Amino acid sequence: MRVPPAAISFSTEDISQITAELSESLATGALTLGKHGRQFEEEFAALCRIPYAVAVNSGTSALEIILRAIGVGNREVIVPTNTFFATAAAVIHAGGRVRFADCEPGSFALDVGSLRECLNANTAAVILVHIGGIISPHLGDIAEICNQVGVPLIEDAAHAQGSTLSARPAGSFGTAAAFSFYPTKVMTSGEGGMITTGDEALYREALIYRDQGKEGFTTNYHVRLGYNWRMSEPHAIIGRAQLRRLPEFIDRRREIAQVYDRRLAGFRGGLRPLSVPRGVQSNYYKYIALLDPAIARAALKKAMRDEFDVGLSGEVYETPCHQQPVFRGYPAGRLHQAERICSEHICLPISAKMTTQEAEYVVDSLEGALELTQTANAAVGD
Ligand SMILES: Cc1ncc(COP(=O)(O)O)c(C=O)c1O
Repeated sequence: MRVPPAAISFSTEDISQITAELSESLATGALTLGKHGRQFEEEFAALCRIPYAVAVNSGTSALEIILRAIGVGNREVIVPTNTFFATAAAVIHAGGRVRFADCEPGSFALDVGSLRECLNANTAAVILVHIGGIISPHLGDIAEICNQVGVPLIEDAAHAQGSTLSARPAGSFGTAAAFSFYPTKVMTSGEGGMITTGDEALYREALIYRDQGKEGFTTNYHVRLGYNWRMSEPHAIIGRAQLRRLPEFIDRRREIAQVYDRRLAGFRGGLRPLSVPRGVQSNYYKYIALLDPAIARAALKKAMRDEFDVGLSGEVYETPCHQQPVFRGYPAGRLHQAERICSEHICLPISAKMTTQEAEYVVDSLEGALELTQTANAAVGD
């Protein structure tokens, strides 16, 4: 059996509908900023139970637009070091400076104590990343701290379409949120992203930034240093087809996660599931398993691939941002928890297409691969 790390799901009906809508788009020439983009925005805003959404061409541009609209220029933005490159890079592209904060082991997200230490008079915003689809159970405290000092909280919800905390959806907590629809995500539009916000002024700014900083769609009068961050109609058509199936995708992922939870609960050491905190409903963008420090991750992944044909998915994350060469020189205090989190976990394959048998096979393979790597270790130690 071969199990890939992730898989995209388009049914025959999805493909027929996408094809028909694309044909209409091509025939009419309505290829960007059209009805599908607007409908995708309305439908996504409804998912997040928030008044406004702006469709853009990536999660990275969603982040940069929010940061520009807030006006972080020359000031600091607190970014958890355990995140994807784009979270930090967007701050720098928007003219801000990154201050890296530590993360906590329960949710892999921003640590409240570290946030308190990082805040200063020059802080322009705080970004909370919902790692692997898990919304931090400490979000209430984080929002309260930001509120007290008058600093906007931004959600990097690239991983969290459809995740909730206390029944409230990702994308509805912060001043604004950025989603990604990159093909590995729980739902995709090919490439694409979405901004959600309840703030009308930020919404209007985002519309301007997305379209070359133009004051209005029909004018060529540029009032902001925007960019071409528009989402095309073909991308919106694909995104809408996926959004319709999001509840089904998440249900399937949760079923696979339950198989992993059940099997790993009785596992013979070396590996245990990261328990999703109480009150959080993850969309299971990632299924995270914690590794004992003695286990060599690279060898385990290699054995899974070579001996069992199972592709483990990418970590969240393998190398924290403060250790990436490109971010050398940005302020980073003690980030020991994040360093440990990054080195001591793996992500099991998960997708809306996976079967229960495949999930069982992954765990059987893990048992075999762990045995192989431990035997190899023992031989080295002899
Ligand atoms: C946490 C996080 N933020 C931002 C992004 C950027 O999204 P995109 O690839 O759509 O630009 C990603 C994409 O993988 C991500 O994982």
